[in-house]
Amino acid sequence: MRGFRTVLLTLFVFSPTYSRKADRHSQRGRSTEGYQAPHSGQRIRLGGTRNSNVSAGNVEVFLRNRWGIICDDKWDIADANVVCRQLGFRAGAVRPTVSAEFGVGEWESTDILLDDVSCVGNEGNVLACTYLDQSNCLSNEAAGVVCKQNTGCPDGWLAGPSSCYLLSDVTTTQQKFAENNCSAIGGHLVKIENEAENHFLSVAFANSSAEPIITAGIKERYGWVWKTVEMSQTSSRQKRHRRARPSQNRRAATSRSTFTSNQRISSVSIHYAKWFPGWLPGNKNSEPSGLNHEKCLYLMSSFPPPDKSQGVVDVGYMFWADDSCVRTPRLMKNGFRYLCERPSEETMEEPDKRGTHGENGENDDCYDEIG
Ligand SMILES: *[C@@H]1O[C@H](CO)[C@@H](O)[C@H](O)[C@H]1NC(C)=O
Ligand SMILES: *[C@@H]1O[C@H](CO)[C@@H](O)[C@H](O)[C@H]1NC(C)=O
Ligand SMILES: *[C@@H]1O[C@H](CO)[C@@H](O)[C@H](O)[C@H]1NC(C)=O
Repeated sequence: MRGFRTVLLTLFVFSPTYSRKADRHSQRGRSTEGYQAPHSGQRIRLGGTRNSNVSAGNVEVFLRNRWGIICDDKWDIADANVVCRQLGFRAGAVRPTVSAEFGVGEWESTDILLDDVSCVGNEGNVLACTYLDQSNCLSNEAAGVVCKQNTGCPDGWLAGPSSCYLLSDVTTTQQKFAENNCSAIGGHLVKIENEAENHFLSVAFANSSAEPIITAGIKERYGWVWKTVEMSQTSSRQKRHRRARPSQNRRAATSRSTFTSNQRISSVSIHYAKWFPGWLPGNKNSEPSGLNHEKCLYLMSSFPPPDKSQGVVDVGYMFWADDSCVRTPRLMKNGFRYLCERPSEETMEEPDKRGTHGENGENDDCYDEIG
C-alpha cells in the first residue's frame, strides 16, 4: 500500500503532531477538505475530553449518517445498563452520568441526536428504547456512562467482551518477536474475529500515539490468516474456549495446528475483515494494498489523506492495513507496539452467558438504523 509508507515516515521520522482529526468533520457528515472518513459500522461509542476511557465517557451515537450525543433528560441507570452491555461490558453500568461529565468538547446543541431516552433495561441496543429524536438541550447536558469492568483477566489485562487484551509498552520491528513475547505471558498476538471485538478494541486502543499496532494477521500463500503461537499448556484451554463460541466459527474456518516442543502454532483463515475501505468519495487509498511484500496486518486509526497533503488524518476508528512484517531500522527506528490476547476465565467457565443474546453487540447489524 502506497499510503502506509507515508504513515510510517510521518509517525516516526516526522512527528505525530502532524496528525489532524478527520473525525469531527466526518461527524458533521462533511469535510472542509473535500474528502471524508468512511463510516466504521460502529453505532455507539464513548467519548469526551476529560477522563473518558474505554469504559467511561459521554455516549456518542451514529444516527442519520452522523455522530452525535444524547441529552441527559430522563437518563438513568436502566439506560446506562443498555449502553454498557451494547459496548461489551457484560455486567452493565456503575452509574449513568449527566451534564457532560466527561467534557463538552466540540459538540454543539445541534449535535444532540436523542433526547428523553427511556430504556426498560433489557434492550439489546439503545435505539430499541423509546426516545425523542429532537431536542432542546444544550451540549453541556450530554449523557454518559461509567460501565462495570468485565472480570476474568489477570492484572494489567483489559477485560473485553470475551477475551483479555494487553497492549505492549515496548515496541518491536518484527512480528515474530511480538508473537513470542505474547506467548511468553500466556497469550498470543490478537486475532479479531467479529465486529463487536473490533469495535471494542477500537474504543480501547485507537489513538495516534498508540498506532500502528501489530496483530496476528499475516498473508500466507493461500490468503490472510490469524497465525498464533501459544505455549502448549494453554492449548487445551484454548480449544475448549473455541468450542464455547460456535458462532465465531460458524463458517468452518480452515484451521491447522502444529505442535513443537512446547509451542502450539495455529493458522485460521480470516473471515471477518475490517480493512480500511478508503476515503470518501471514491474509496481512495483503500486497504489491503495487495502488494507482494506487504503481508502483515496492522491496526491503525490514522491514514494519509487522498490529497497527499503532509501528515496523517485520524479517522477515529481502528481499521486494518497491511504492510511488511519486518522493518528495516531506517524506516522504523522505534518499531510498533503489539496487542496480546488471552482467553478470559469468566467467559470460558460460563459459555452460556455470552453470545446469542446480543449482550456483546454481536447483533449490532441486526437492526435498521432509525431515521
Ligand atoms: C475509567 O473511568 C472511570 C470513571 O472515571 C473509572 O471509574 C474507571 O476505573 C476507569 N477505567 C479504566 C480502565 O481506566
Ligand atoms: C520481550 O519480552 C521481554 C521480557 O520477557 C522484554 O525484555 C523484551 O524487551 C521484549 N521484546 C520485545 C521486542 O518486545
Ligand atoms: C493512547 O493510548 C495509549 C495506550 O492505550 C495510552 O497510554 C495513551 O494515554 C493514549 N493517549 C491519548 C491521547 O488518549
